[in-house]
Amino acid sequence: MALISDRLSRFKPSLTVKISQIAREMSLSGEDVISLSSGEPDFDTPNHIKDSAIEAIEKGFTKYTQVDGIPELKKAIANKFSSENHLNYNLKQITVGVGGKHVIYNLLMSTLNKKDEVIIPSPYWVSYPDMVGLAEGTSVIIETQMRDSFKITPKQLENNITKNTKWFILNSPGNPTGAVYEKKELYELSKVLIKHPHVQILSDDIYEHIIYDKKFYNILNVEPRLYDRTFIVNGVSKAFSMTGWRIGYGVGNEEIIKSISKIQSQSTTNPCSISQVAAKFALESEKKFLEEWISEFKKRQDFLVNFFKSIIGLKPFIPSGAFYLYVSCEGFIDKVQNNGKKIKDDMDFAEFLLYEAKVAVVPGSAFGKSPFFRISYATSLNDLSEACNRIGNALKKIK
Ligand SMILES: Cc1ncc(COP(=O)(O)O)c(C=O)c1O
Repeated sequence: MALISDRLSRFKPSLTVKISQIAREMSLSGEDVISLSSGEPDFDTPNHIKDSAIEAIEKGFTKYTQVDGIPELKKAIANKFSSENHLNYNLKQITVGVGGKHVIYNLLMSTLNKKDEVIIPSPYWVSYPDMVGLAEGTSVIIETQMRDSFKITPKQLENNITKNTKWFILNSPGNPTGAVYEKKELYELSKVLIKHPHVQILSDDIYEHIIYDKKFYNILNVEPRLYDRTFIVNGVSKAFSMTGWRIGYGVGNEEIIKSISKIQSQSTTNPCSISQVAAKFALESEKKFLEEWISEFKKRQDFLVNFFKSIIGLKPFIPSGAFYLYVSCEGFIDKVQNNGKKIKDDMDFAEFLLYEAKVAVVPGSAFGKSPFFRISYATSLNDLSEACNRIGNALKKIK
């Protein structure tokens, strides 16, 4: 009898993990590696949010809570949606989980059956296809193009909807490209979705507040008739730099919310009581610090875009949101390193940067779109500048 379940055999080994593992081993053996693979803001959680958690501990708010979130936090979430997004939800339409990732996992586990298909535009956040696989669904990957700003076209969506399509995942601002869907583009997609009432929409809005030159819209802002079949996921990880606190939330259909609660009751029981208080406080307090963060992110983005534009063979996509830069390395594919080894794909390119420049980036193949790599600029400008110097020098070794 095999020790490990068959379920796990459906997973591909993660390329992100492979690169980070090599980077970690190199650091441990004393090498000075700059990691640009992180998916979390480098800023500290603001003090006023930390203070609210300390107070919660001191008051003894340290026990089990309601399975899918305390009512005070759910109220703060409902208020966030009505004031920031002009969308109304009652508390029975809200669930709180251990991060946005957990909410998506619960959602797919509660709704997918064998044969159910999930449309995922690529490049995608690495976890979507694996979570779909774990829930025994089938991912239908639709490759987007840089010339379309990495956004799925209405025609692509239409052509890939079948009678088995259960979910369409929309992630804007998106990871790994930072692409943001404009109001008009959402409207065009909604026209397709309206024609297929069996398709549910999973709107992953986790980067809503990390946005530069565009305004954020949810698809429900342009087509309210999709309300009953749109499930929105968001959280405090990115906007409040609270990745370690593990609070995410979802809003949508009451029946789905109830099933999520069932799963949660037999897995985590509830999200951390203290983090829930902090998340409530974060959502309710003013967000002035965000302006500073965004302006810092933008400075870093401009720096990186200028650097990568100056290198023949690399082509950065200019993001409108999130804190990643997705760069085409097509110009280096099939080129030869000075040790005679050929760069066959973006994994080889990322490995080259790791060994020769001591800079860790994530190859595009991890996100289902090659030949690219993703750089996170949730790192100080000093480190980014040093990383770019190293990359510039290393690339001179490729012919
Ligand atoms: C697109 C996307 N969705 C969801 C998440 C989940 O974030 P968390 O679980 O920290 O809330 C992430 C985190 O990297 C992400 O990039």
